[in-house]
Amino acid sequence: MTDATARLDSHADIADIDPRIFGGFVEHLGRHIYDGIFEPTHPTADAHGFRQDVIELVKELGVSTIRYPGGNFVSGYRWEDGIGPVEQRPRRLDLAWHSTETNEVGLHEFQTWLDTVGSDLMLAVNLGTRGTQEALDILEYANSAEQTAWTDQRAANGHPEPFGVTMWCLGNEMDGPWQIGHKNADDYGTLASQTAKAMRMLDPGVELVVCGSSGRSMPTFGSWERTVLEHTFDDVDFISCHSYYQEMGGNAQEFLASGVDMARFIESVVAIADAVAATKKSEKRIMISFDEWNVWYLHNEEGGQNDKPEEKGWPVAPRLLEDQYHVLDAVVFGDLMITLLQHADRVRSASLAQLVNVIAPIMTEPGGPAWKQTTFFPFSLTSRLGRGRAIRVPVDAGTFASEKLGAVATVNAVATVDDEGVTLFVVNRSTTDAADLRVDLAPLVAALGREVAVAETHLMHDDDMYAANTLENPERVGVRTLDATLEGQTLAASLPAVSWAAVRLA
Ligand code: AHR
Repeated sequence: MTDATARLDSHADIADIDPRIFGGFVEHLGRHIYDGIFEPTHPTADAHGFRQDVIELVKELGVSTIRYPGGNFVSGYRWEDGIGPVEQRPRRLDLAWHSTETNEVGLHEFQTWLDTVGSDLMLAVNLGTRGTQEALDILEYANSAEQTAWTDQRAANGHPEPFGVTMWCLGNEMDGPWQIGHKNADDYGTLASQTAKAMRMLDPGVELVVCGSSGRSMPTFGSWERTVLEHTFDDVDFISCHSYYQEMGGNAQEFLASGVDMARFIESVVAIADAVAATKKSEKRIMISFDEWNVWYLHNEEGGQNDKPEEKGWPVAPRLLEDQYHVLDAVVFGDLMITLLQHADRVRSASLAQLVNVIAPIMTEPGGPAWKQTTFFPFSLTSRLGRGRAIRVPVDAGTFASEKLGAVATVNAVATVDDEGVTLFVVNRSTTDAADLRVDLAPLVAALGREVAVAETHLMHDDDMYAANTLENPERVGVRTLDATLEGQTLAASLPAVSWAAVRLA
């Protein structure tokens, strides 16, 4: 048993939490759209063909803004293929995922789905095979209130009112050699700057996200951000970060350090953005849109790729990237959410990649059930309880040695304060020792001027850290209550090894 001591002081402010930090990401990829959210023959399908069982789960997940339509897919996408009468829409080959895209779902259908689930749209434009003009076309189509050829088409297609999309991504992962239309930082920065300026001329209200690196381990990481921001600093609001984590070589302890890698990624990008600001003598602060993050078993143990879409021909909606998540994954995932909240001052938007069937918290079977993966629980709880202001909670519990990251704190925590209460999110990253957690609430009680009580607790842990929910056993793993007590003004709880917990104080 490790001693873990902390104090909760509501003055230890990080920042107000932007609700867009609880965003998601839906890409035309595998069975995400087709056979995932859209399955007209499913018994629960609504009049538009959307699965209502999935809609209910997405609502419960609590996703604020949803990035669409990709991902790698967007770099070869013609958005006009997805508007107009469905029977006239072209079938196209999607080079990114080696699939056939039927275009049955496009901008209008996706907006209809978003209206039902209660989330906002965040659009990515194609800066791979296309450029500024096509970005302006979709912006005019989506946002203009003037009468033009594009807005006439929008009205004819059933949406006279503008969609009013605020957040726009200037391409996707343009630093990645796998990206269609991959560019060097100077070329991309020039194109992104020109496109951003033109988009603002059309709609000054847009918030623009320029592509950062596809990961901290990219060979161009750092220099990419600096060069791209030197071109685009005055034109954009956000720079993106993407990061995926997985257990390799059966080394769960190393995997449990993933939150620290994410923190260093964020802090490095902030440092670079602020260095560019300094050279420009600017007070402007570029924010981070962490618009792809998750656990993803992308690589096999030999370092190759697990899914090889090119070996499957050109199918419609193939089974791709259908990772099954276990308890250990969910604990790491919960820690990634803690890390995002710890950086709420600069991470003002984030998108869990992805939502349904594709590296997703929600799984479906065609004609069959939908169920929650283990990662569903930390997301839905953090989204529901992690509102208001983020508060720093340093925990004294010792460290373990990570091969890649050096000394890593064994217990990691953050708290949030809103009008109705306070939530503590905490993870025990040890694979061997439970943590005897004692949190001094005296500074919080003094600041609030009243006592607090434990209102609800949630624990993600299992004696088998590789337990998962499956089609056959969809409720094998869930959250249970954590035995948390108040001893005077001290919150006490025992956190099992490899566990994530949320404690709500009212
Ligand atoms: O989320 C899956 C893929 O990961 C996205 O299409 C791409 O942007 C990233 O490499």
